[in-house]
Amino acid sequence: MKRGLLAVNAFLNTEKFLSVYRFLQQAAERRGIALDIVRTDEFCTPFDELPHGVVDADFVIFWDKDVHAARRLERAGMKVFNSARTIEICDSKILTAMCLDGKAEMPTTVFAPKTFDTVGYSDRRFVERAAQALGLPMVVKEACGSFGWEVWLARSLEEANAVIDKIGAREFLMQKFVAESAGQDVRVNIVGGKVVSAMYRYNDRDFRSNITLGGKMKPYELSDEQRRAALAASEAVGADFCGVDLLFGGAGPLVCEVNSNPNFKSSLDCTGVNMADKIVEYIEERI
Ligand SMILES: Nc1ncnc2c1ncn2[C@@H]1O[C@H](COP(=O)(O)OP(=O)(O)O)[C@@H](O)[C@H]1O
Ligand SMILES: [Mg+2]
Repeated sequence: MKRGLLAVNAFLNTEKFLSVYRFLQQAAERRGIALDIVRTDEFCTPFDELPHGVVDADFVIFWDKDVHAARRLERAGMKVFNSARTIEICDSKILTAMCLDGKAEMPTTVFAPKTFDTVGYSDRRFVERAAQALGLPMVVKEACGSFGWEVWLARSLEEANAVIDKIGAREFLMQKFVAESAGQDVRVNIVGGKVVSAMYRYNDRDFRSNITLGGKMKPYELSDEQRRAALAASEAVGADFCGVDLLFGGAGPLVCEVNSNPNFKSSLDCTGVNMADKIVEYIEERI
């Protein structure tokens, strides 16, 4: 009997996360594979002491953004899905934008210069420069964020600076606001270079269409252009599986971000396609 590990964040224990872990475990069980949960805090050991039983597993589904833990597993010779590198790229919207440059269209993106907690941004001319390049309103996003929580629309330089004050020294980017797409996007779930499901997400009250922020969803038929854009993004970040967010640009689809561990429960509710089954099938062919 094959045995895999499901690496999960030690501290994300709400039903939102637990339900996804259950779907993956059940999908594995349906294919006769035991999928044991390993929490990321269990890797809090010296480099030569991986937790008991870990290296004997046939594969790891890494359902977290703990790049260091994923890398340790790879260094121990384990097959890790997604790879540490893909997780790292997708966790940072700045790295994603650089990785997609020239491979898939994205809204024009400018990233903020590095600063430090104790220093902050004493000179805000870079915000003016960004606003000149992107126009106002512009989108301000933390490099690392989920569920739309760290994404804002700044209508003026004052609003942009107020958001930046809140962000502190965390990395962030500024992006052209795709007005045609306000409150709407498409989530495209991809496994092994194939689209497995797509849903249209919309919100009349917020420019962010995330379901967590009250967005609604409908199954969606992708155009060829949208399919190509989403697949190009998945390939560029080297994803085994991912959820790509596509915006509706005036001149065609624009990639908003790539999620290396998309919360696929909403997609399942919306489309009836269980991404967990596709992920397990994909991995089974590779172990
Ligand atoms: N440049 C943009 N123009 C218009 N809408 C955007 C833009 N960037 C993000 N959004 C909206 O905000 C939502 C959240 O942004 P996203 O980058 O996907 O962050 P998160 O990782 O928090 O989901 C998107 O699904 C989209 O609806
Ligand atoms: Mg998103």
